[in-house]
This record gives sequence, C-alpha cells and structure tokens, in this order.
Amino acid sequence: MSHAYQKCINPACQGEFDIGETLPGCPRCGNLLDIQYNWDKLPLPSRARDLGRVTSWPAGGMGQVSGVWRFGDLIPFAPLENRVSIGEGHTQLRPSDRVGSYAGLKPGGLWLQYEGLNPSGSFKDNGMAGAFTHASLVGAKVAACASTGNTSASLAAFAAASGAMRAVIFIGDGKVAYGKLSQALDYGALTLLVKGDFDDAMARVREVCQEENIYLVNSVNPFRLEGQKTIVYRVLEGLSWEVPDWLVCPGGNLGNSSAFGKALYELYDLGLIPRMPRLVVVNSAGAPTLSRLVNKHGLVWNGGTVDDKLIDSYYAGLDARGERAHTLASAIEINRPVNLKKCLRALERTQGLVLEVSDQEILDAKAQVAREGIGCEPASAASLAGTRVLRERGVIAPSDRVVCILTGHQLKDPHATVAYHGKSLAELAEDYGSFGVSTAPFANRPVRVANSLGEIIDAVRRDVRPPVGK
Ligand code: F0G
Repeated sequence: MSHAYQKCINPACQGEFDIGETLPGCPRCGNLLDIQYNWDKLPLPSRARDLGRVTSWPAGGMGQVSGVWRFGDLIPFAPLENRVSIGEGHTQLRPSDRVGSYAGLKPGGLWLQYEGLNPSGSFKDNGMAGAFTHASLVGAKVAACASTGNTSASLAAFAAASGAMRAVIFIGDGKVAYGKLSQALDYGALTLLVKGDFDDAMARVREVCQEENIYLVNSVNPFRLEGQKTIVYRVLEGLSWEVPDWLVCPGGNLGNSSAFGKALYELYDLGLIPRMPRLVVVNSAGAPTLSRLVNKHGLVWNGGTVDDKLIDSYYAGLDARGERAHTLASAIEINRPVNLKKCLRALERTQGLVLEVSDQEILDAKAQVAREGIGCEPASAASLAGTRVLRERGVIAPSDRVVCILTGHQLKDPHATVAYHGKSLAELAEDYGSFGVSTAPFANRPVRVANSLGEIIDAVRRDVRPPVGK
C-alpha cells in the first residue's frame, strides 16, 4: 500500500486523492495539489547525512545513476520498478570567491549550484523524472507541456528515451531561445508554435490535455515538484548538511521556488535540519507578477487563505493595459505563474523574499558567472543579480552564506551571450534597448583580424603579457 497521497493546498478544502489519479488541480475547489506522505510509516534515516545513498535498484535501471532517485526516501510516491530516469541530477555545487566578491560577499560565502549539467541542460530534468515516474504509474502514452523552452526540451528528451511516450509541446511562437527549440525538434516532439506567449500557450495546453486526455507535465503537476526538491538535497549534501543563510533562485512559473520551499520545510519538520535558509525568488523586471503582488500589493499565503480577488484584479489590470511579459531572460518571461500560491507558502515558511532585477543586471551577472568557467543562460543569472542587489540594500550581510541556483546551461541561448560580448554598444542598444540593455561592462570583445600572420601575431602580443614563449 502506498503511503503517499495527493492533497489540496487549500486548508478550507483539504481534499485528498489517490496517488494513482491524474489531476491537473483539485477536482473540488480548483486549487493546486501537493504530494503528501505518511512519514511515520516510511523508513527514513534519523540523520540527514545518511540521506542520498543508492540502496537497491532494478538491474540495469537508470536509477543507479539518478541524482533524483538517490533521494528516493524523500520522494517515496512510486515503487522502484516505476521510477524513470535519464541520468539526471549529476550537478555540482561550486564555491566561488570571485563571483562572491562581485555580489559583495566575503570569501567562502557564495556557492553556485549548476543545474545546467543535467542531460537536457536545465534543472527541469529533476522534475521530469518525477512526472515521468507518475506517468508510468498511470500508464500514460502522450504527455504535453507549455514551455519557454526548457520544460519542452526535457519532456522531449524523456519521451524519446522512453521510446513509448509521445511528446506534444506548446511554445509561444518567437518566444523561445534556439538552443531549446533545437532540442525539441531534434528529440522528435510534436512542436506547436502557438501564436502568442507562454501565458497563452499555458492556457491552451491545459484545455487540450483536458479535452484529449493527455498527461500534463507542467509544474501544476505535483509529481514534477517532488523531483525538483532534490536540487535542495544536493545543495545541502554539498554543504555537508550545514544549512546556508540564503537560497536564491529565479522565478518564472514558480515551480522551482515552490519545490524548494517544500523540500526545506519537510526536512525541517522531520527534524533532519535544525533551521531553514531564507528563500529568495528573483523576477525579471519585465515579468514581475510575483514581486509586484508581494511587495506592492502585500499578497501573502496567510495560512492558505490567499486573497484571490487581489490576484484576479492584478491580472485584470494586466489585460486592461495590454501588458505582456517582456524580458531578455526568455525562460522566465511569464506573467501568470501557475504555482503562485505554493510559492507564497514557501516564502512564508522560509521567511523568504522576492525582488526584481533588470535585464542589464541579469546579463552583467551572467558574464561574471561565466568568468568562473560556468556557463548559464540569462534567466539563471537572475539569482546572482538578485543576491547582489540584496547585498547592496544591506538585506544580505557580507558574511552571510548564499547559494545561487543556476537553472540552465549557457548554450541554451547563445544569441544573448554573443550579443553581449560581440555587438557594438550602438548595436546592442538598438537590438536590446526594449529590454533596457545598452551597455556591456564585462564584454569580452572578439578581435577581427586579416588572414595575415603578422597581424595575428600582433593581436596575440597585444593581449598576452609577457609575450608567448618568453
Ligand atoms: N530558469 C530557467 C532556465 C527556466 O527554464 C525556468 C523556467 C526558470 C528559471 C523558472 O523556473 O518556472 O520553476 O519558476 N522555465 C519554464 C519552461 C517555464 O517552460 O522551461 P520556475
């Protein structure tokens, strides 16, 4: 018998549903669903440092190499034989004093959790392992998502690897970075370029999944978030289970922040960590729904009694003004985050914060991360940009210990990188002015040379001191 069940997050409803059901939300009140566990009936180690060990797996199963299922004790909703993996979660936590000093932190205070190392190049593979495992439990044959690119790349990769699942993806036409689009096409997913943006694609995919009985893998799917909890476990494991002061991530559809919050308060409630880090969610100023609702309008979780009218009137205002999300960090170009309420809960439980940063701050932070030899896409660098702003405001102290989550790989969006380094300032302002980007203080400019030995040697000598070979 399973000790896991689905439960509505609305305390006035508390609807409970079997793990074998496929539900896009609570059938009674429409709110989001959580996965809950009867922990007292489950075999959990008593010390955090005993978590994360591979125990037994079906012979030949990819579970052996999964950085998600290594933590199966903390996401025990499916038996071993159903657990799906493509080898996700082999990511790393890297300390960086140089990047820390950019953020205004003392040496030893900053870590980068690099999720770009996942098989499809973003953190989404953690969650997709969870969703595909549930899909395998319920025998789904077709799975769909709306995406700004990374969820679709991950879905397409898992579907291709399974050999048995058809992937259908909905992308806002022209709203996706080429690295991500190329993955979906190459992995063979049915790729629908929907006229509109992510928020439109999200609305349509929900309707289509309902109508056609297709398995939805967007992060309204609570099994996705169970997989994404493991990012937090790997961070803590990398810190020898010493809790940092801050955990900082970008905010788009707010699945990650919701999952991080759940991972943290479950560990805390189970007595496996003595305290929780404060969660920071960083919006791009071009897609600021969470930060506006929280910081300007005072929206809070409030024990689960969330002010729905406030949310509705905020969205009505966006519609009335014809305001759409617009950011160079295309991964988080989202104005109607589906996990808004779960994120509010995570913020309340971790005494978290939300802020917004400009696209200029994002690109500058991204260039700083790359100088450490770690390539991330623009949205990922929002976490470092946000850390820097909070340091400047004195919210984060110089001696605090901060972990920034880098959600996606640099090669997802090479255009943004090449534009930053390669364009003249006039070109940059012309192309990216609408995003508020007009300078590139950390640009590493390419040097154009004739096909001439003398000219090339001159260019090398101008750069390399002392001269090569001396
Ligand atoms: N960073 C990257 C690289 C992302 O792809 C996303 C979301 C986020 C951050 C934000 O995470 O949605 O959990 O708040 N990408 C989704 C997608 C929306 O479709 O790939 P979130």
